[in-house]
Amino acid sequence: MTGRELVDRFGRVHRDLRISLTDRCNLRCTYCMPAEGVPWIPRPELLTTDEIIRLASVFASLGIVEVRLTGGEPLLLPDLADVVHRLSAIEGADGPLRVSITTNGIGLDTRARELADAGLERFNISLDTLRADRFATLTRRDRLDDVLRGIAAAQATGLTPLKINTVAMHGVNDDELTDLVRFAREHGAQLRFIEQMPLDAGHTWSRAQMVTGDDILAALSAEFALSACDDRGSNPAQLYTVDGGPTTVGVIASVTAPFCGSCDRVRLTADGQLRNCLFARGESDLRALLRSGAPDERIESAIRESVTAKLAGHGIDDPGFLQPDRPMSAIGG
Ligand code: 5AD
Ligand code: SF4
Repeated sequence: MTGRELVDRFGRVHRDLRISLTDRCNLRCTYCMPAEGVPWIPRPELLTTDEIIRLASVFASLGIVEVRLTGGEPLLLPDLADVVHRLSAIEGADGPLRVSITTNGIGLDTRARELADAGLERFNISLDTLRADRFATLTRRDRLDDVLRGIAAAQATGLTPLKINTVAMHGVNDDELTDLVRFAREHGAQLRFIEQMPLDAGHTWSRAQMVTGDDILAALSAEFALSACDDRGSNPAQLYTVDGGPTTVGVIASVTAPFCGSCDRVRLTADGQLRNCLFARGESDLRALLRSGAPDERIESAIRESVTAKLAGHGIDDPGFLQPDRPMSAIGG
């Protein structure tokens, strides 16, 4: 510990920064965006690569050791490898920043190698179904083959663990959960099932419609012997070995078993707003500080203020819960 860490009122030390690089996406997943998309952030408001690197350096000096690049879809950035290269050259408390990416996989077939060479630590790919017709309905684009090619390319880089994220949904993919685990096992990947959260731009989420972590475990236990792994730390996923391992499967029960008590994340939106939680109602405008020529110390205190204001939990289950005023694609997953 250097004494400069970002510690909140509940003693949580923040080490993980999520950076959304763009709010745009080439898919339109129904749980995320309406068919017509959302009003995109105007380009001049997006952080430049230089601005992202400056902020990441400040965060690294405050104890951030890990950066996850998200979107929207981060592969839409032509200079993504350059961003990865520059971020992974920043020295944090434990050595260079560890940089990973959450992507829908489209286009990864030609870019996975380049990203690995740029210093990426690992890939996190979203895949909710293995059936082309369902994929087309769910994402409103007929691109399952592109995603599967992207997963193969990510596997070929040898970066581990390769993670695949699946949002489990009633009547959509809840009959193929075990198929997805088998698919992941064949690709040397760790499948992580996520409970659907109220983050869609259309505000159509309902708790009753959600497939819970318990539902997921029940479905998987019918076909596999699962055994809970310990040492969860700040990992949102509870991991289980599948049939004695080495394959593991994760369950991220964000709604029914929130992991807010061990949360170590903060989030930077593509337009330079700092959010202390996915569900935060407020943001800190780091872009305005950057563009007004503020020194590092002024940016540091804005970051500290935001962390200090972080609430104990997201409160999705509270009667007064309000969905964040931005969709997931604009906040970053
Ligand atoms: N609930 C849970 N996960 C979501 N994601 C996007 N929207 C939601 C939601 N409403 C996931 C995507 C992807 C990651 C970026 O976030 O499936 O894996
Ligand atoms: Fe794009 Fe991800 Fe949203 Fe799907 S969930 S529309 S892949 S940003």
